[in-house]
Amino acid sequence: MPEFDGHLAIDMENNPKTMIDRRRSVTKKFKILITGGNGFLGQQLAAALLQPTNELKFDELILVDIFKPMSPIKDDRVRCLVFDLTRSQSYDELFHTNIDIIFHLAAVVSGQAEKDMELGHKVNVEATHLILEAIRQRNRPLTRLVFASSCAVYSWPQSCLDRDIDERTQVLPHCTYGYQKAISEHLISDYTRRGYIDGRILRLPTITVRPGVANQAVTSFVSGIIREPLNGVVAKCPVNPTTRVWISSPEVVIKNFIHAARLPALAFGVHTLVNLPGITVSVDDMVSALAVIAGKETAELIRFEYNEDIDRIVSSLSVTYDVTRALNLGFSRDTDVSHIIHNYMDSELTDTDSSSDDTTDEDSDN
Ligand SMILES: NC(=O)c1ccc[n+]([C@@H]2O[C@H](COP(=O)([O-])OP(=O)(O)OC[C@H]3O[C@@H](n4cnc5c(N)ncnc54)[C@H](O)[C@@H]3O)[C@@H](O)[C@H]2O)c1
Repeated sequence: MPEFDGHLAIDMENNPKTMIDRRRSVTKKFKILITGGNGFLGQQLAAALLQPTNELKFDELILVDIFKPMSPIKDDRVRCLVFDLTRSQSYDELFHTNIDIIFHLAAVVSGQAEKDMELGHKVNVEATHLILEAIRQRNRPLTRLVFASSCAVYSWPQSCLDRDIDERTQVLPHCTYGYQKAISEHLISDYTRRGYIDGRILRLPTITVRPGVANQAVTSFVSGIIREPLNGVVAKCPVNPTTRVWISSPEVVIKNFIHAARLPALAFGVHTLVNLPGITVSVDDMVSALAVIAGKETAELIRFEYNEDIDRIVSSLSVTYDVTRALNLGFSRDTDVSHIIHNYMDSELTDTDSSSDDTTDEDSDN
């Protein structure tokens, strides 16, 4: 299937929009925006886009976040802005010129949205709506918006289903974050249906192993039980060893973000939703893989301290998916949890810090 390289629109051969896209692409700068650019996936995505091997070519990469983002790699094409997406007054500053691709990753994650529903609504719902309106009002229907949704929109206990979850399964969240993601999904779907934007919605598995420190997601222990012991630190596991989770590595999800942005709109068909591929593993599987790779003593740094609230939400998340649609669309999948652990060790435990904080940074006081 032909993909979009950022400079030549090759989809929708007979569609007038494509012709506009092609005409535009030779005359203007190609711009990519990452919201949540200071976050875990925002930084990893920026780093991947800045690799010479990246096939999605661009002239400018804008990272926005409420906390000042930094470019993960020094590159003159990067602009970093402090920007609060919930403040509509400042949108002109961001959208005064055309943006070709938006990776909308800014969010208040699950644990925090559960505690602070109002903040979650502002960021997870209202900011999405503001972005959509900014594009609609400026009449830029060719803007591609790749949205990081979550499998938290599903809460079917596996026992209730006679088949694995796919895109036709009814959305029924079990947490505020899931509802907020589901509302944003609907908004993006409707704006896409009406031709105001070219939206692509990706429902992510839990991304493991997240480097650095734990975040406020209820699933943060999934990374913690690998990351902490590998760094010689005790990790608390709030769920039972038999609890299963649906996971993907950061490498694979970043590859999938870029793939989603490059796919022609027609490839998605009527609905732009895709459940990204993951793998199902139990906590026990993860601990065993860690013991094989890093030794029994390392795995023994995991302490099981049951937390009923966390277990309730995690156990409500579905763990077996039929990802035929994603695989047919060319999205990638991890092989196994050992591979994910090795990837983390290779990229994070042997890392020399290549980040730069002097890269054409521009602050705005939003
Ligand atoms: N990491 C995962 O396991 C996972 C799983 C499913 C879905 N997702 C989704 O993927 C996206 C990226 O996840 P992540 O792990 O990088 O999260 P993250 O928390 O590391 O990054 C989110 C970023 O959004 C920023 N942000 C919050 N409010 C903002 C605002 N008002 N204006 C601008 N920026 C704001 C935060 O400062 C943060 O840097 C999120 O939308 C998340 O819901 C992640």
